[in-house]
Amino acid sequence: MSNGVASRQRILSGMRPTGPLHIGHLSVLQNWVRLQREYECFFAIVDWHALTTAYDEKTDYGELARQIALDWLSVGLDPEETAIFVQSRVTEHAELFLALAMITPLSWLERVPSYKDQIQHLGSVGKDLHTFGFLGYPLLQAADIMLYKAQAVPVGEDQLPHIELCREIVRRFNYLYEEVFPEPLGLVGQVPLLPGVDGRKMSKSYHNAISIAAATEEIKGQVRMMITDPARLRKDDLGHPEVCVVFKFHQVYSPDVSRVEQECRDGHIGCVGCKAYLAENLDKVLAPYRAKRQEWDEPGLVQRALKRGEERARQAAADTMDEVREVMGLPRNR
Ligand code: TRP
Repeated sequence: MSNGVASRQRILSGMRPTGPLHIGHLSVLQNWVRLQREYECFFAIVDWHALTTAYDEKTDYGELARQIALDWLSVGLDPEETAIFVQSRVTEHAELFLALAMITPLSWLERVPSYKDQIQHLGSVGKDLHTFGFLGYPLLQAADIMLYKAQAVPVGEDQLPHIELCREIVRRFNYLYEEVFPEPLGLVGQVPLLPGVDGRKMSKSYHNAISIAAATEEIKGQVRMMITDPARLRKDDLGHPEVCVVFKFHQVYSPDVSRVEQECRDGHIGCVGCKAYLAENLDKVLAPYRAKRQEWDEPGLVQRALKRGEERARQAAADTMDEVREVMGLPRNR
């Protein structure tokens, strides 16, 4: 290829706006930050996707998106390099979703594993997900990816069935009309699964998460609440790191895990000291992000970054929709 700069492959990924981000999201974001050097990246805050399940909750998605974008920027996403934007602001997402709906057999959507699982799971807490929108969740995700002709999609392992569905839809579209879309690959990142401070799944709704923005004192407080080995009552009782929440965090955030493990097993370090050491290490990881957050947290700055991303995304999206309209026989925009 003659021009190395113009030939970067495209990546798209998205995150549902469910709340401010916590350290469980950190490895995903750090991976995105690495990818933006190698690829032309589009990262979307997918508010339509949030509404497929939260349709009955009143949320200010504009404000929530600003907070999430601030989290993204503070970890190092660079809006000069990468398009960060809100999905619903680029209306072509909804338009391509509708176009793809014409060619997607119902059975493909009904057999996506998360579909029945989630209907049951959220049904058991009283949410009715027998909606057209929820059935269409993975189709909307396919539209997100295809709109930018992304060749690669960084996702968690749980999302692979959605990527597979997207590939099937790409093949069907290309077969029915013309070869418009590439078949995207899922890039599965290794995400360490950290529990919340109470040992349950880390989740904003359980109030057991440590936010990316947490200040030193807040980190200390959250780490103090972590569940430790119940067999250790005194400092010199022998510990069992494998059952301890604090140790799971040491494995991700502490440089000398094997020393921590040994001192716990031998009863040489107590839970209080062990927690203080973890809080210190966690604070070292988060401190640079807090500093960057301060730079971004000025009136209008995040909104401007989102606006810029939106414009870039809209341009790419409009190009794709021109092609889609053309091959489907719809009158063209331009
Ligand atoms: N379904 C994804 C999740 O829950 C979020 C998402 C929406 C997404 N659209 C996407 C991820 C497109 C990758 C690409 O994590």
